[in-house]
Amino acid sequence: MLIPMKQRNYTLIDQVIVSVDVGLRTLFGRPASTGRANPADAINSNNDTSNSEQETSTELSESEKKHSAALMRVNHCGEVCAQALYQGQALTARDAKVRDTMQTASNEENDHLNWCKQRITDLDSHTSYLNPLWYSGSFAIGVLAGALGDKWSLGFLEETEKQVVDHLQTHLKKLPEKDKKSRAIIEQMKIDEAKHASLANESGAADLPKLIKKIMSLGSKTMTKTSYWL
Ligand SMILES: [Fe+2]
Ligand SMILES: [Fe+2]
Repeated sequence: MLIPMKQRNYTLIDQVIVSVDVGLRTLFGRPASTGRANPADAINSNNDTSNSEQETSTELSESEKKHSAALMRVNHCGEVCAQALYQGQALTARDAKVRDTMQTASNEENDHLNWCKQRITDLDSHTSYLNPLWYSGSFAIGVLAGALGDKWSLGFLEETEKQVVDHLQTHLKKLPEKDKKSRAIIEQMKIDEAKHASLANESGAADLPKLIKKIMSLGSKTMTKTSYWL
């Protein structure tokens, strides 16, 4: 189901109800996405040869599994925050084109959300217990950014996406080399996030003050550190 946020005849109350629905789906259900295949599945089919040597080379030890799951939990939490930001910003965006841009990107974020969640489940672990807290905080920040005007909202979005690309790059270094499935998911996410940053830039994003960028970076570091463990 596509979220009908872009229909102009929706009242603010309607949009709030839709946002609550999207929030609940993000946290507890399976939210609307583009339906793209999970990149990790391609690794499966590549290994269809049932070559036992190849299987052994990609088999993770218990500690590697735990570490990979924790990193994917961080990424899942990041996608929860991204979804909340997009929803908050879409709620207050003034320009219909900006709202549509955010909607398209938000559906792609849900692909990421679903892929990360699937990978965490496959690694026998759980998503972050703090997700509802992060969703609420990020939603409020999104509403505030949107209320400041589209160019600042887009600037915030562009900076967020750029920071996410850098963050994903560090995760590619931290993930076990053998964890090809998680790596495939992150590689695709990295491509998408860079595209979201360009989209925001092309839509008229303002360059944020350095101090704001620094605060954003500190906020995301707090999220990544806590969701690794919880
Ligand atoms: Fe994402
Ligand atoms: Fe993104």
